[in-house]
Amino acid sequence: MERVFRTLHSDEVQAAAAVAKQCFPGNEIVLDYIMDEFTDMFSNARWKPKHFVAEVDKKIVGFAGWNYSWAAYDTAEISLVGILPEYRNQGLGSELLKHLFMDIRIKMKCAEHVLVSTNRITMFTRLGFRTVCRIRSRLNGESELMVGSISLGCGL
Ligand SMILES: CC(C)(COP(=O)(O)OP(=O)(O)OC[C@H]1O[C@@H](n2cnc3c(N)ncnc32)[C@H](O)[C@@H]1OP(=O)(O)O)[C@@H](O)C(=O)NCCC(=O)NCCS
Repeated sequence: MERVFRTLHSDEVQAAAAVAKQCFPGNEIVLDYIMDEFTDMFSNARWKPKHFVAEVDKKIVGFAGWNYSWAAYDTAEISLVGILPEYRNQGLGSELLKHLFMDIRIKMKCAEHVLVSTNRITMFTRLGFRTVCRIRSRLNGESELMVGSISLGCGL
């Protein structure tokens, strides 16, 4: 099984959106949001999301993205992460996130913190994140706002 983690290409937006649809079935808010993110990634905006995909044997099976955060200086945010159901629990989600963290480190040379709002607490805790507070999100339902410290090598 050949596993590759790389940047999403502009001609793969529909393929990645199809993966998102299976990861968040029936969640129209997520699907609208992710299409906006994928489209913005290829715009000329200075601050724009960057998405990565996980490929297994040349098939896109997952996606994850990050963007600069307005919450604090030197802070990035993770948007959504999804792995197709039949490819879960093999470490793909965690590996994909580690690629994101590497990219954040390279792009934001002074990056300190990474924020995420998620209901996948265990996975992010294993990656070195800690909970700031509980929130209710229309994207994720009951969630936690979590923060990881890049300078402490979170997830790497
Ligand atoms: C959340 C999600 C992306 C995780 O993807 P994944 O590829 O299954 O993630 P991982 O395999 O890295 O980790 C999941 C579990 O597999 C286990 N695992 C990790 N590596 C493993 C390996 N090599 N072999 C077997 N199990 C492994 C981990 O222990 C982990 O268990 P934990 O959650 O109890 O810590 C996926 O479940 C998903 O797409 N869910 C629906 C969308 C969603 O909720 N997204 C999150 C919103 S931010």
